[in-house]
Formats: sequence, structure tokens, C-alpha cells
Amino acid sequence: MNGPRRLVVLGVCSSVALYKACEVLRGFQKAGCDVQVVMTPNAAKLVSPRLFSALSGRRAAVDLFDEEEASRIGHIRLAREAELLVVAPATANIIAKFAAGLADDFLSTLHLTVTCPLLIAPAMNEAMYLHPQTQENIRRLKSRGADFVEPESGSLACGDEGWGRLASVEAIVQAGLRRIGAERRLAGKTVLVTAGPTREKLDPARFLSNPSSGRMGYALAAEALRRGARTILISGPAGLLPPPGAEIVRIESAQEMRSEVLARFGEVDAVLMAAAVSDFRFSETRREKARKEELPETVRLVRNPDILSELGRLKTRQVLVGFAAETGNVEDGARRKLREKNCDLVAANDVSQSGIGFESEDNELVLVEPEGDATRTGRASKVELSRLVIDRLEVLIGRRG
Ligand code: CTP
Repeated sequence: MNGPRRLVVLGVCSSVALYKACEVLRGFQKAGCDVQVVMTPNAAKLVSPRLFSALSGRRAAVDLFDEEEASRIGHIRLAREAELLVVAPATANIIAKFAAGLADDFLSTLHLTVTCPLLIAPAMNEAMYLHPQTQENIRRLKSRGADFVEPESGSLACGDEGWGRLASVEAIVQAGLRRIGAERRLAGKTVLVTAGPTREKLDPARFLSNPSSGRMGYALAAEALRRGARTILISGPAGLLPPPGAEIVRIESAQEMRSEVLARFGEVDAVLMAAAVSDFRFSETRREKARKEELPETVRLVRNPDILSELGRLKTRQVLVGFAAETGNVEDGARRKLREKNCDLVAANDVSQSGIGFESEDNELVLVEPEGDATRTGRASKVELSRLVIDRLEVLIGRRG
């Protein structure tokens, strides 16, 4: 691997499979990474942290409250420098703690402070692995973007046969390297993402809007950042925390969004228009709240500018990604918007289906490009879907050189 050495934090939990963590550590070192080991207190009872300190050349961290350790290793600094947090082996307990957001030891506290990708390799008894609570915890973590290297079936330390054996060392190291290899591919590029709804005001107390949550756009911005892009997030009122590192521009109306996007269009390599832009606004906006008797029986709406179409006309080298809310034949609708708005990729979803799209955690997308067949993603979390969209974006930006 070229460039500066990359820091991988290896979390080690108290499973009998922890002896394999030494090999995982070695695997990352061979690939040119520095490895910092963080053990849970129970893991440190099974094997001395000194073993991992010796192998890694860095003092293994165990105790958050050991002042000497905390001052030397500091979880905040570690969180900033880490490019990957891999937990191998991961017990049912640490998976539950991560899913619930507990922070009662070094590893679980670190998990809450990192922004790098998280890779989890579970190892436990089959009953614990298949328990609905564990499966639910795994689903929750996946929906937040964590990757899992699924355990294998075979003979387990408890004497049983079944699922729960730690995946092979090669599979864990490869998955980790793939994840960080993919991370930096947008370095040097600038990506602009719009997100959330717009609000079109009638007066300070009344507005026209839509149920967009902003989650898709925020997930796309987080993924672009993770891959090293300078990321500008132009957001309508969404009530979400912007991903750390994004340049956030907050707007309310479609017209404000339009001017903020146009002002930056010349400097970006790609625009992802995930915002649900209101197609109409009130013909007049009042500065002060009107009493209802003062308002006419009917109010007039006028059409808002179509920002994406405008970008489609202006674009030179920029990659344009549109999102389409469709009912009926989703692919046909997506292809029409792709053509009409001169986009390079349109991600469409069926807004007539409940449980996906607006206001929900999940979505299901149909991806269309000018050439080639449509790709159907299947239902997944918006975090997972953002990866698929950014994977395509990477290819499209790559083609522009
Ligand atoms: N869009 C935009 N400006 C608008 C309306 C939409 O830039 N005034 C963008 C959206 O951000 C999205 C794409 O256009 O990326 C498609 O949005 P959608 O609401 O699905 O389509 P519309 O163009 O509004 O068409 P229709 O409502 O007829 O389906």
C-alpha cells in the first residue's frame, strides 16, 4: 500500500477465538497498516495485553480509567486517527453494547467516538449468534453502516457444531482492506449533496413543504466524506446532525437552495440532488404573520425553478445524480427524468410503497444510467444504499479523469 501508514484499531473481545486476533493483527501489518489493539477487560483476563503490545509495537489499551494509559492512548485522539475499527473476535456482548450505544469501557467508548468504518467479525456459540436479540443488534449496526464478516459453521469451542466460528483471518483482513481501500477513492474531488425538504413560506407561521427526512442526503454526504471527498451539504430543515467534516449550508426555500447550489457549481465534480425540492411556492410571501381574515379565500402558487434541469443545461465536466420519487412504473419515470434533466445517474424510488422512502430508515432504489440496464438494489437501509450510489458515482467521476 502506498502513502503514509494507515491506522487500524483492532478491538479484541473475550472469545476463545481471540488467539486468532494475533493473526489478524499480523495481516493488517503485512498490508502496511499500523495496528492499535484495544481489549475488553474480560479479554485481558484471558490473554495478557502485553502480547498484543509486543506484536503491535503500541501499548494495547484496556482501561479507560487508567490515567497513564488514557493519557498515552486517549480515545479521542485514537478516534481521530483511526481509518478502520475492526473488532475480531466480537462477542454477543460487545455487539449488544455497540447497538445500544453503551460506553463503559475503552472499546465501547471508542466505538461512539470514531467516524471511520466499522468492521465486526462475530465469534460465539450458535445459540447466542442466532438469538433474535443478537440478530436484531446486528441488523441495527448494519443499518448504521457497519460491515460484518459473517461467522462460519464448524466445531465451536463449547463442543457444539454450528454457526458462530470466527471467519477466517484472510476473510477479515481482506474485508478490512477492501473497506479502507475504497475509502480514499474520492480524495481530491468535491461533491455537493442537497438534502431534506424545502419550505416555501406564506408568512412566518405558515409554509408549504413535504415529508422528506433528509436521511438519504445525509447518508450520501457521510459516505462521500468517508471516501475522502470534500463534501458540501446544502440542507433544508432536516433535524439531523450533519456528518462531521461536511461543509454545511442551511437553506429553507427552493430559491435559496438554487442560489447556493449555483454559486458552487463551478468548483464541484459532482452534484447529488437528494433534496425533495418543493415544485411550487406562494406567489407572495408576507414578512409578518397575517390573520386568516386578511388572507384571500384561495392563495396562488407559482412554479419553482427546477434546479437539477438547470444544472443539466449548465454542466461541463460535473457528474449529475438525480433522485426521483415515482409511483407506477418506476424505471420509466426514472429514465424520463434522466433524459429530460440531462443526468448521468438517476436513483428512483417507489413512493407509493409504505415502509420505504419518505420519513423511513429504509429505501429501495432503481438506478438508471444513459446506457445499460437498470439496477434494482432491493430493500436496504439508506446508509447501505448510499454506498451503492457512491460506488457508481466513483465510476462516473473516474471516467471524467
Ligand atoms: N428537483 C429540482 N428542482 C425542483 C424539483 C426537483 O432540482 N424544483 C430535483 C430533485 O432534487 C430530484 C429530481 O429533480 O433530484 C427529481 O425530483 P422529483 O420530485 O422526483 O421530480 P420532478 O422533477 O418534481 O417531477 P414530477 O414531480 O413530475 O415527478
